[in-house]
Amino acid sequence: MSDLSVQIGPLTLANPLMAASGCFGYGVEYAGAVDLSTLGAVVSKGLFLKPREGHPPERIVETPSGMLNAIGLQGIGVHRYIAEKLPELRERRATNVINICGSTLDEYVELARILSDADGVHALELNISCPNIKEGGITFGCSLNGTFDVVSAVRKVTHLPVIPKLTPNVTDVASFARASEEAGADAVSLVNTFLAMAIDVETRRPKLSNVVGGLSGPAIRPIAVRMVYECQRAVKIPVIGMGGIASARDVLEFLIAGATAVQIGTANFVDPFIWSKVLNGIRDYLQRHDVARVADLVGTIDTSSREKQWTSS
Ligand SMILES: Cc1cc2nc3c(=O)[nH]c(=O)nc-3n(C[C@H](O)[C@H](O)[C@H](O)COP(=O)(O)O)c2cc1C
Repeated sequence: MSDLSVQIGPLTLANPLMAASGCFGYGVEYAGAVDLSTLGAVVSKGLFLKPREGHPPERIVETPSGMLNAIGLQGIGVHRYIAEKLPELRERRATNVINICGSTLDEYVELARILSDADGVHALELNISCPNIKEGGITFGCSLNGTFDVVSAVRKVTHLPVIPKLTPNVTDVASFARASEEAGADAVSLVNTFLAMAIDVETRRPKLSNVVGGLSGPAIRPIAVRMVYECQRAVKIPVIGMGGIASARDVLEFLIAGATAVQIGTANFVDPFIWSKVLNGIRDYLQRHDVARVADLVGTIDTSSREKQWTSS
């Protein structure tokens, strides 16, 4: 039997499969479909200090091999999350990574302080990459100084593993991974969605109420794999990869490119029972290739005969 466990800084995950933020509710909503304790981790929907309404409809549009969303970080806020969701997540023995988002640096710090005292929180994912809100979030994630400042400020106030979630909407994503590592991050996760838009040609109106939104799903996977590859070569901390994963082969591609763990988002909307299928597919691959530990696959891409063509930044 292969060892599926992976290490994200001080946190051991039972396997490399994490549910991506915003695509798995707060976790408890999926408890009827998935035994939450069998997932590597559940990443919560993005939480602000206070509840938020998000954007009005239309907030989701299907595109070729992808999905466009502009939810606008609707959420119940951190206090209701702790009171209403965490107790059940604890009971179900889920590993809980909380995705936090602030409009200011102080809000990230405050959220980190509050969640550090809550029982059942295992790590913080800093959403500095949401493309769908005007202030905060991506403003930090698109600036190297902003990334460094928010990660180091949160680092100072929490004992929990800190995982900044990087935006792909930058030219050199590896430099943001480096800034995160220098600021004390335990890992980085990537990618959040790609800024995109869709237009109804009959009405000439944008399909999303917010005009622009974030693209996810299989359409983005090759770009995400490339970004994970670049980041893993740039830092020593673990990289958590995501973007369009919909099968065991997709997970393996990310692991081989350099991801220590992965997150599944959009595919979960298509098939909420995807988890055991993917896990079985990974087990099968490890057995066929005689690999004892899934961690042994990480970053094992063989570029030997192709490396010369690679122009890294
Ligand atoms: C409907 C929806 C809501 C999302 N909400 C969040 C969020 O609250 N916080 C966050 O960091 N990412 C959020 N994301 C981004 C996903 O976590 C993930 O980074 C992205 O969708 C790429 O993975 P995928 O192609 O597997 O979906 C959301 C994505 C979707 C589709």
